[in-house]
Amino acid sequence: MKTDCHCHILPGIDDGAANLEEAVFLASWLVKHGYQRAICTSHCSFLYHNTPKTVTDACNLLRDELERQGINLELVPSMEYRFIESTWPTVRQNNWLMPWEGNHILIELPLHNPERMGSIVPADEIRYLIEDGFQPVLAHPERYTYMEMNAIRALKDAGAQFQRNLGSLEGWYGDDVSIRASEMVSEGLFDWVGTDLHNYRYADFFENHVFNTK
Ligand SMILES: [Fe+2]
Repeated sequence: MKTDCHCHILPGIDDGAANLEEAVFLASWLVKHGYQRAICTSHCSFLYHNTPKTVTDACNLLRDELERQGINLELVPSMEYRFIESTWPTVRQNNWLMPWEGNHILIELPLHNPERMGSIVPADEIRYLIEDGFQPVLAHPERYTYMEMNAIRALKDAGAQFQRNLGSLEGWYGDDVSIRASEMVSEGLFDWVGTDLHNYRYADFFENHVFNTK
C-alpha cells in the first residue's frame, strides 16, 4: 500500500490545511499521485498545542468528508513530535505517542533554533523510545543544516530511521538543503520519503518540479 508517512492535511489544527476544503484538495492530490494511505502527522509543538484528541477529532472530520465525496484515502491520525523542551517532556509524561505501522513515531528537531531543545539530547531520546518498543523516524534530517553530518549520522546510529521530504532534492527548501539531501541520498541514509504536504503551494511545487506534470 502506498503510504505517505508525513503530511499536514488535517484541517485547521496546525500550519497545514487551513480548512476542510484545502484538506480535501490535499487528500485528493495524494490519491491522484497513487497514495492509498496518509499518516496524518500534525505538529505537536509549543505553537499548536495538539493532543491525541485534537488530532483524532480533525481526522474523523476529514475522514467523514472524504467518504461523503467518494475519495478513497485511508487516514491514520498521528503527530510529528518536536524535540523541544516546551513540548517533548509533556508528550512523554502524558503518553501522547500515536504510533503508526505498529510502532513508528515521527520526530523532528527544531528547524532554526536548536537552543529550544534545552536539555534534551536527541540521541538519548531516540534510545529511550527504542527501549520502550517504538521505532523513531526522524523527519527531514536534510533540513537540519545547522548540524554537522557526523551529528546527523549519530542519530541514525542511535537507531532512528530517516525520512526525506519530497521536494528536498528539487530545491523546495533552498540550495543548502538540496545539497545536504543529495549527499544523504548518495550515502543511502533514507528509509522513507514523505511529502510533508502542508497546503496548495506544496502541491503546486511538486507538480511543477517533482512530478513535472504541468
Ligand atoms: Fe512536517
